[in-house]
Amino acid sequence: MPKTVRPFPTLATGRLSLRAATLADAAAFRDILSVPEVTRFSNWPDRPGKAAAERAMRWMCKAYPSGKGCAWMIEERESRRLVGAIRFNWFVKKSKSGEIGYELHPDFWGRGLMTEAALAVVICGHRYFGLNRIEAWTLPGNPGSDRVLEKAGFRYEGTLRQKAWFKDAFHDFRMFGRLAGDHAVSSRQLPLRDATKTM
Ligand SMILES: CC(C)(COP(=O)(O)OP(=O)(O)OC[C@H]1O[C@@H](n2cnc3c(N)ncnc32)[C@H](O)[C@@H]1OP(=O)(O)O)[C@@H](O)C(=O)NCCC(=O)NCCS
Repeated sequence: MPKTVRPFPTLATGRLSLRAATLADAAAFRDILSVPEVTRFSNWPDRPGKAAAERAMRWMCKAYPSGKGCAWMIEERESRRLVGAIRFNWFVKKSKSGEIGYELHPDFWGRGLMTEAALAVVICGHRYFGLNRIEAWTLPGNPGSDRVLEKAGFRYEGTLRQKAWFKDAFHDFRMFGRLAGDHAVSSRQLPLRDATKTM
């Protein structure tokens, strides 16, 4: 994606506000990543130290202005509590593609919140960032994440065997993809717009 001066695409859904990350979010994000259930099926380090959390937050702050990706902090609108994060880890301009990843504090699991966030983000991906293909991967044994992707309109496309090495092991990646032409988005699914006037 081109480096851009367009406003950061703040998103609002029925229960959530998805806003830009700031360095001040590092401690709260570290708290979320410190729960073993949150990092078990991802390439985030388990129980990251302060420096690692701050490094991650710096990356998330820079993702949008650099044009390389886009990261949102997820706040529950009612409590204004930071409950998780979701992001485009990368964009490939030539193929108009990007990859999402996400995590939510376990206190908030099972309420449909990540599906709500993922839908807002994929709609933003297709409309604001002009993506044709959005992909995501999950690790075997994480059916909750598979289900979030299915509910957000992704299709399971197969498993890349031993695709990655982290946490001292090879990992199979279950690949999911969603194309701009796959689904008509109903107006009920649209995120409310804040800064994204051109979405
Ligand atoms: C995966 C995660 C984001 C899901 O968030 P969430 O807000 O609880 O998800 P939702 O409530 O929107 O949807 C979860 C769906 O998975 C289903 N589910 C959850 N656990 C399941 C399990 N063990 N087996 C089958 N389905 C399961 C739920 O029933 C729900 O589906 P439904 O609405 O059809 O009933 C959350 O668990 C998380 O942050 N996990 C740790 C980080 C992580 O794994 N990130 C993804 C890395 S790929």
